[in-house]
Amino acid sequence: MTGLATGDVFVLGAGAMAEAFIRGVLQRGALQPAQLCVVSRNPQGRAVALQGQYGVRAGSYAQAAQARLVLLAVKPGDAADALAQVEPYLHGQPLVSFAAGVTMRWLEEQVQGKSPVVRTMPNLPVAVLAGVTAVAFPEHGLLPADRAWIRFLLEQLGTVVEVPESLMDAVTAVSGSGPGFVCAFLEAMEQTAQRLGMDPQLARPLLLQTLAGTAQALREWELSPAELRQRVASPGGTTQAGLAVFERGGLAALVSEALTAAANRSAELGQAFVSTGRR
Ligand SMILES: NC(=O)c1ccc[n+]([C@@H]2O[C@H](COP(=O)([O-])OP(=O)(O)OC[C@H]3O[C@@H](n4cnc5c(N)ncnc54)[C@H](OP(=O)(O)O)[C@@H]3O)[C@@H](O)[C@H]2O)c1
Repeated sequence: MTGLATGDVFVLGAGAMAEAFIRGVLQRGALQPAQLCVVSRNPQGRAVALQGQYGVRAGSYAQAAQARLVLLAVKPGDAADALAQVEPYLHGQPLVSFAAGVTMRWLEEQVQGKSPVVRTMPNLPVAVLAGVTAVAFPEHGLLPADRAWIRFLLEQLGTVVEVPESLMDAVTAVSGSGPGFVCAFLEAMEQTAQRLGMDPQLARPLLLQTLAGTAQALREWELSPAELRQRVASPGGTTQAGLAVFERGGLAALVSEALTAAANRSAELGQAFVSTGRR
């Protein structure tokens, strides 16, 4: 743990994302329950439920003052109100935001420059500690030990990749919406498997292990998807017959259009959180 900061973490919001974080850091022993303080909008609501389930403290906004790190885990539309509540208790503790589309500049303005701001984009599988979180760190103002600690804490939820903030809309399309796109493909495969005679109890494990196994093979053999595809598709074989249909139907162009639409929509939603010019 050399080079890592340590201390208490204040979690603003007590929903799905807050719970994924809490579960991850506790299950893996990265933090003790007493180091986590959580606040929900309704003081008797979900924060208290998390206290009962994980032994963390359900607290008040003022407890952010004692924390070494503040996590923003409220919906983007609630971020301004939630930050206004903690802003008086900030004195340089880094603020790590999970809020999709909310820019670093806007966050800095909300907290009047009192905290260095880190923006993240986790995806849904963080809830089962197998997610991927893209992180944009600020260029200045964050201590190396805090940066290493933030990365370490996020790694408890799965893989972490560092990106410049300018790539966040693209990340949102690829890994944020990615589970939805993968599921749409799986859904179509599952429906066809049933048409070909399988019942869902048989089709589902075949599909899920095909997905997980392909990902593992790509990682272990350090191959690109194109390379592995070529290995599976022998000339004149079954895979090649299916891939020819994808090619005729323009799968690559369709996927490109879908991801571009997602990235554009992310940029549109983020328009509400560009700089206000206030600070
Ligand atoms: N879930 C995911 O997989 C995922 C993935 C990527 C990004 N995110 C981001 O993570 C953030 C949280 O999403 P979520 O799915 O966890 O939302 P959620 O389940 O709806 O939870 C939101 C929490 O915020 C609390 N809250 C709202 N206003 C507050 C305030 N003023 N003070 C204190 N707490 C307040 C709510 O309190 P009450 O319980 O009292 O209503 C609730 O506990 C979002 O910004 C989202 O963009 C989530």
